[in-house]
Amino acid sequence: MLPVSIEPHPHRTITWTGVLETPAATARCATLLAPLLRAGDVIALQGDLGAGKTAFARALIQALHAGEEVPSPTFNLVLTYEPADPGAPVIWHFDLYRLERPEDAYELGIEEAFDDAISLIEWPDRLGRLLPDHHLEIRLQMGRRETSRRIEIRVPDGDLARFRSALEAMGLEPVHAEAGDT
Ligand SMILES: Nc1ncnc2c1ncn2[C@@H]1O[C@H](COP(=O)(O)OP(=O)(O)OP(=O)(O)O)[C@@H](O)[C@H]1O
Ligand SMILES: [Mg+2]
Repeated sequence: MLPVSIEPHPHRTITWTGVLETPAATARCATLLAPLLRAGDVIALQGDLGAGKTAFARALIQALHAGEEVPSPTFNLVLTYEPADPGAPVIWHFDLYRLERPEDAYELGIEEAFDDAISLIEWPDRLGRLLPDHHLEIRLQMGRRETSRRIEIRVPDGDLARFRSALEAMGLEPVHAEAGDT
């Protein structure tokens, strides 16, 4: 029999899923996640056009920056949000749909974002191998009704302790652990 390890596995992720019945439920999820984030976190927001990636990012940013307007960075590719408290991390909100080549992200300052900021990235696949292996993946899909969405949050093993109670408060449930799948 193989020994069972209780150490977090660096490449193992656990996927939590649920249904968000309304835009308000999506915003609530983002609001629960926001205060747990710290400098260096990378959030990959996956989903088709109109799935709700910007809606999620907007609520997350507004949870940390009350009253701030959060337009979609469709044309700028990135918009940044400086905290009032100088000790708190800056948020970089990317929409990479129009990024032509992964290397073009260097000109946007993606390395600085990954080192020092909270990075929220729509269309993260545009980064190819430049997307850090260690990231939180949030996948939104159209639901059964016009205002419902399925959500999957894929959490690296080592981050589960930090996010678990928020995932439970979102009403999500863990579905499986996948070795080597990040
Ligand atoms: N449960 C829900 N959660 C989030 N958005 C919802 C939900 N139900 C309906 N919507 C609507 O879906 C739309 C989502 O648009 P949004 O711009 O956030 O999508 P997106 O994934 O960022 O698209 P794009 O790829 O074009 O950037 C909004 O009009 C929002 O009101
Ligand atoms: Mg968007």
